Amino acid sequence: LTSSTRGEATLLSDTSETFELDDINWDDIGFGLVPTDYMYVSKCLKGDNFSSGELLRFGNIELSPSSGILNYGQGLFEGLKAYRKQDGSILLFRPEENALRMRTGAERMCMPAPTVEQFVEAVKRTVLANKRWVPPTGKGSLYIRPLLMGSGAVLGLAPAPEYTFLIFVSPVGNYFKEGLAPIHLIIENEFHRATPGGTGGVKTVGNYAAVLKAQSAAKAKGYSDVLYLDCVHKRYLEEVSSCNVFVVKNSVISTPAIRGTILPGITRKSIINVAISQGFEVEERLISVEELLDADEVFCTGTAVVVSPVGSITYLGKRVSYGDRKVGVVSQQLYTALTKLQMGLSEDKLGWTVEL
Ligand code: COI
Repeated sequence: LTSSTRGEATLLSDTSETFELDDINWDDIGFGLVPTDYMYVSKCLKGDNFSSGELLRFGNIELSPSSGILNYGQGLFEGLKAYRKQDGSILLFRPEENALRMRTGAERMCMPAPTVEQFVEAVKRTVLANKRWVPPTGKGSLYIRPLLMGSGAVLGLAPAPEYTFLIFVSPVGNYFKEGLAPIHLIIENEFHRATPGGTGGVKTVGNYAAVLKAQSAAKAKGYSDVLYLDCVHKRYLEEVSSCNVFVVKNSVISTPAIRGTILPGITRKSIINVAISQGFEVEERLISVEELLDADEVFCTGTAVVVSPVGSITYLGKRVSYGDRKVGVVSQQLYTALTKLQMGLSEDKLGWTVEL
């Protein structure tokens, strides 16, 4: 099977040609782009509303060299996943939360945004058009990447005159090469991810470009990723480049509070609820690096990383290991509870899943 028609995007008039996939090795997928069949595109002018949009063959898009996104980074992205249930049906996890977060981010970045209904509808249409790419239960998920960008031309610094809301998808497996094994983090001392009053709390594209330098240096030294401290005191935990962080001490679970400099993760919020419902005490507060180093267990959460146990943290040249490098008990318990819900393997009492 060919995965897509590349190059010029063509309008989808009939999805009946999509068929069940049979030649992908689902055991081998990691977290990289596998081009799929269709993408969703909707445009609107500044001050207008987004139209209902259309499904196009997945392919390159045309952008003015002078577009707001290319020149001034006026753009946001989202990330959510679709899971295949054992009966073959497909589940989305809390898509309204991504829609709301995109709307908050759009306000900060001076962009119009799709309504929650438009966002969820567009996600559903995109997933259904690509349903053959949703991995079998237990083999991964379909990662959904909505983008909102200033696509109109600007030269002087100003909000773009036109905006594009685009969604593409890719089947994915584990985010870190370690798979579900504990990851190894290094605390960054020189660079910071966000500043008070900045854009650290929204999912703007520039937040992610800004962490590449430290991440590349860390990976070159064998670490999985970088953990950031606050830029004022250089002492309190913020987040990892692509996920939130939690610490466990004496069965109390703590995570940095949302104060504008860390991303309000949907997995973070869901894990807090799941942990409370399982009887854990959960605190959202300032967490010092000393507390982190003294924790019983550390784990990260995110759509892409799900729940990733941390095996060691290196700070100022000193390495602290957790749980004999095995997956911590609390991390494992929360990972299992969350993924069972997402895959439709346990009862969804909170109405978090949306069946397609
Ligand atoms: C996600 O978890 O969906 C993210 O947006 C992180 C990204 C850097 C992969």
